[in-house]
Amino acid sequence: MFKLSLCLLFLVFAVGLCFNYKPYTVSIVSFNQSNETGVFDTTTLRLIGRERLVNGTVELKEDMDDSHWSFAGELYFNPTENNNFKRMAFNIPLTPICKAFKNYRKYFSKHAEYGKQTNFPMHMDVCPVPKGTYYLKNIHLNSDNFPLMLQRGYMLGQGLFYYDGVHVGTYSICTILEDVD
Ligand SMILES: *[C@@H]1O[C@H](CO)[C@@H](O)[C@H](O)[C@H]1NC(C)=O
Ligand SMILES: *[C@@H]1O[C@H](CO)[C@@H](O)[C@H](O)[C@H]1NC(C)=O
Ligand SMILES: *[C@@H]1O[C@H](CO)[C@@H](O)[C@H](O)[C@H]1NC(C)=O
Repeated sequence: MFKLSLCLLFLVFAVGLCFNYKPYTVSIVSFNQSNETGVFDTTTLRLIGRERLVNGTVELKEDMDDSHWSFAGELYFNPTENNNFKRMAFNIPLTPICKAFKNYRKYFSKHAEYGKQTNFPMHMDVCPVPKGTYYLKNIHLNSDNFPLMLQRGYMLGQGLFYYDGVHVGTYSICTILEDVD
């Protein structure tokens, strides 16, 4: 009996290994913001070169603190190039900005080295999130800390900002996940 269940366990594991349990790359396809006059100005950012690295400056026009600001995040997925994105189970519920920053900055900080690729303090807890003009230098997304079991294809991430509970802007980034072969 013990032997049998061990076998079953191994089988399940082996099937898991065959099913998409492979490394992949994440490349940025496009990004934009819904509110051009929004408090976070990313409109001068560019994707440069063949590798489509994010480069330029972003401006945060005012300090963001929990008394006014909150944030929510959503992920959508689409295996093909049509526009039928389906919402994924992963999301960030509406959360006061400082708490959201503290809880989720680890998912963002790994993509840019502080002092070299950006001067935005994503590597530490800050509150309020400080206003300023920040540089982003040749940033690409690093899939190292993404779950291996993600479906390949197009993935759309949306970050929504709220001021006093009112939705004031959505920041969208479309990426493509491809197997490394
Ligand atoms: C950008 O904006 C347009 C609508 O103006 C939208 O159709 C597109 O999917 C947006 N998202 C990205 C990531 O480019
Ligand atoms: C990248 O952005 C920096 C500012 O952060 C700018 O000085 C530099 O010219 C940009 N490089 C390219 C190739 O656009
Ligand atoms: C755009 O953003 C600004 C600053 O956050 C806000 O005051 C304004 O209401 C927003 N506009 C829309 C249409 O959400």
